[in-house]
Amino acid sequence: MTTENRIVVSSDHAAIALRQAIAAHIASQGWDVVDIGPTTPESTHYPAHGAAAAQRVVSGDCQLGIILCGTGQGIMMAANKVKGIRCGVCSDTFSARMIRMHNDANMLSIGARVVGEGLALDIVDAFLNARFEGGRHATRVEMIDALEG
Ligand code: RB5
Repeated sequence: MTTENRIVVSSDHAAIALRQAIAAHIASQGWDVVDIGPTTPESTHYPAHGAAAAQRVVSGDCQLGIILCGTGQGIMMAANKVKGIRCGVCSDTFSARMIRMHNDANMLSIGARVVGEGLALDIVDAFLNARFEGGRHATRVEMIDALEG
């Protein structure tokens, strides 16, 4: 069962400050934020953090997830290996809106070394405020999910 309004956030060491800014931003909007770290700056491994956040989503503990690393790319690749995850990296608000409207993305990835905090918060808002359109897009999302076997 999915817990509505609960969102998991995670990152590697390259994105701690931006992750914490995003967590505070969405908490102020009423989201129940599950921040699974890390909190200390030692070098760490983004696949583990991406997978941990993804597990929170596919288990139903969290409705959505936001993950970050330096580029947003590595942690996105790791999250997308978890069955049931549809995660996109976004550096613009249009893409962030569209990955929910057309792709029913359940996770968003952002590169902390790519975008500044102001744009990152706008990207997060675009993602969270968009809704899946269904219809022909549902057929395509089903085709994506079928590739997982
Ligand atoms: C860490 O230096 C960096 O490789 C990582 O944050 C990320 O950008 C990988 O995709």
